[in-house]
Amino acid sequence: MIRISNVSHRFGERLLFSDLNWAVPPGSKVGLVGSNGAGKTTLLRALTGSFALDSGTVETGRNKKIGYLPQDLMELPDMELLAFLRRRTGLAAVEDELSLCTDRMASLPPDSPDHDRAVALHDTLMKRYEALDGYIFEAMAGKVLKGLGFSDDDLTKPTGAFSGGWKMRIHLAGLLLAAPDILLLDEPTNHLDSESMEWLEGWLSAFRGIMVAVSHDRRFLDRLCTSVAELYNGKITLYSGNFSAYLEERERRLEELRKTRRLQQGEISRMEDFIRRFRYKASKASSVQSRVKRLEKMSLVEIEEESKRVSFRFPPCTRAGLEVLALNDGEKRYGDHSVFQNATLTIQRGEKIALVGVNGAGKSTLSRILAGREPLSSGTLRLGHQVTLGFYSQESSENLDYDRTVWQTLSSRNPAWTEQDKRNLLGAFLFSGEDIHKPVSILSGGEKSRLALLKLLLEEANFLILDEPTNHLDMQTRDLFQRALLEYDGTLVIVSHDRYFLDNLATKVVEIARGSLREYPGNYSEFIEKRKSFLPPEETGGPERNEPGNQRDQKRIEAERRNDLYRKKKIVLDRLEPLEERIENLETLQEQRDALLADPLFLSDSAKTSALLIERNEAARELEELLLLWEELVSEMNRIEKTG
Ligand SMILES: Nc1ncnc2c1ncn2[C@@H]1O[C@H](COP(=O)(O)OP(=O)(O)OP(=O)(O)O)[C@@H](O)[C@H]1O
Ligand SMILES: [Mg+2]
Repeated sequence: MIRISNVSHRFGERLLFSDLNWAVPPGSKVGLVGSNGAGKTTLLRALTGSFALDSGTVETGRNKKIGYLPQDLMELPDMELLAFLRRRTGLAAVEDELSLCTDRMASLPPDSPDHDRAVALHDTLMKRYEALDGYIFEAMAGKVLKGLGFSDDDLTKPTGAFSGGWKMRIHLAGLLLAAPDILLLDEPTNHLDSESMEWLEGWLSAFRGIMVAVSHDRRFLDRLCTSVAELYNGKITLYSGNFSAYLEERERRLEELRKTRRLQQGEISRMEDFIRRFRYKASKASSVQSRVKRLEKMSLVEIEEESKRVSFRFPPCTRAGLEVLALNDGEKRYGDHSVFQNATLTIQRGEKIALVGVNGAGKSTLSRILAGREPLSSGTLRLGHQVTLGFYSQESSENLDYDRTVWQTLSSRNPAWTEQDKRNLLGAFLFSGEDIHKPVSILSGGEKSRLALLKLLLEEANFLILDEPTNHLDMQTRDLFQRALLEYDGTLVIVSHDRYFLDNLATKVVEIARGSLREYPGNYSEFIEKRKSFLPPEETGGPERNEPGNQRDQKRIEAERRNDLYRKKKIVLDRLEPLEERIENLETLQEQRDALLADPLFLSDSAKTSALLIERNEAARELEELLLLWEELVSEMNRIEKTG
């Protein structure tokens, strides 16, 4: 159980949490959502105890082990991967204690009280060892690491040999293996490819503890979460059901809010009108006064959507030559590992290219090379006439100067931009007021990404290479950015896991697989289709691998399908069962009410009767809603059974 009570916290003028209350029941999986800078990371940190709040209490239960995955990339102590995991999970410490305890037992006379105490300690330690699956640790670690995309060779490599994204996976593996009671995950899918993501989803759906995950990834949230907690305006609002259900319910509530606001505005203008007309009439003085007071006290209905609706455009850029980039017979090697070879690619002015491939295929390496940040091992790379290049990667936001403020970060850029231009742009990127003077070090994940993208925009490049630019961005900023890229008149190469984002943007797909490049004209969906016919059957990934004769694959696919079906059904069942219980309870109560209402003795008490009638009507309304939901869930279950 997590219980957060009456929490408030202020950063300067900004009230981040305002009397926030939130309870997470045991076994629930909650998606924590909210726009960039809403305070999600801060709230998770408060739960881990590493962030002190101004007021309020946070309880996570006594002796509960918390596993926390931070949003920012982190460094790891340099040691062999498996040794690190042993240490990270606490197993190494238990092993050390066990060996000390065994030595002590051997050195003490049997039957002495000290010996007995050592034996008792040994027993306790053994229990801890078993709880951490000490006997099968290597097998378990192997399974988790494999699921997260590591190869067998990786197990013995030092942690320092891995890049930032992989370090995050190592950390995640450590968390999963440490048998936590509560998992707090801050954007866990940001560094995962779709295969590892599926694996993680499977692992998490079997996890029995509490999970709170911050994510902007709709698919991930949909498949895992049984409820959604929205952080907005310093408070948490709970929505039961998965993320899609949350979006619908939220739209309904917004509609309700808009209605309330319309009513409120009508009320305000009536009061203002009254005040204007009667302000000099002595006979109405007290009525005018009371309206003035009411107006002052009135808390206005605020609607998030509308307060944030802004847009921006990339400035028109200078025209580059027709051929923007030519890569000829390129090869990249790290030691004796070749990332790609014989790579040839020409990019024409105005093309919008999606660069895709599984994790580790070399997308980031290739984009760094195309951007001139890293040399080729052999081959040539040439930029076209008058090409000005802008490059964005995860590191761009990590590499911002943490001591500078937002404003200072932009001030050294293009002098052609006036102060007002910059302020407007900052506003479009949702930095306003106090935010402008914040140092980069305190910005939230999304705010850092936004600032790095904004910095890029000021470079007025006519050729952009963007590696995972939408990680950390909330939905609104993502849409805003996508619209701007659609109108961008330069050339674009973009790496992203976000299919929806790619599909709308790309005019051509370049796939990097097994060390070679392949080009597919058309958008991302067309690429998925074409890829099936283009590749020999054994090279295609996914269901198309299901060729006759390839029985092992077929079995695996069948097993995956069954697992998937089970998982999908489980998600629905988890909602259905408590719902049925609730409906049953309500129906029983309703029957009891009806019995009372049929009782002439009871009917003689009119106050009681009308109270009961109100209760009965409310319950009837609730029942109706629950039954509707129940029908939806049942038909969803039928659909899953039919179509898988
Ligand atoms: N020490 C600080 N002083 C002032 N403001 C701060 C400080 N630390 C964080 N903030 C601000 O508090 C807000 C909440 O930050 P937090 O990292 O919790 O947001 P978030 O919801 O996780 O956002 P994102 O989706 O971008 O990760 C941000 O606007 C951030 O700039
Ligand atoms: Mg955050």
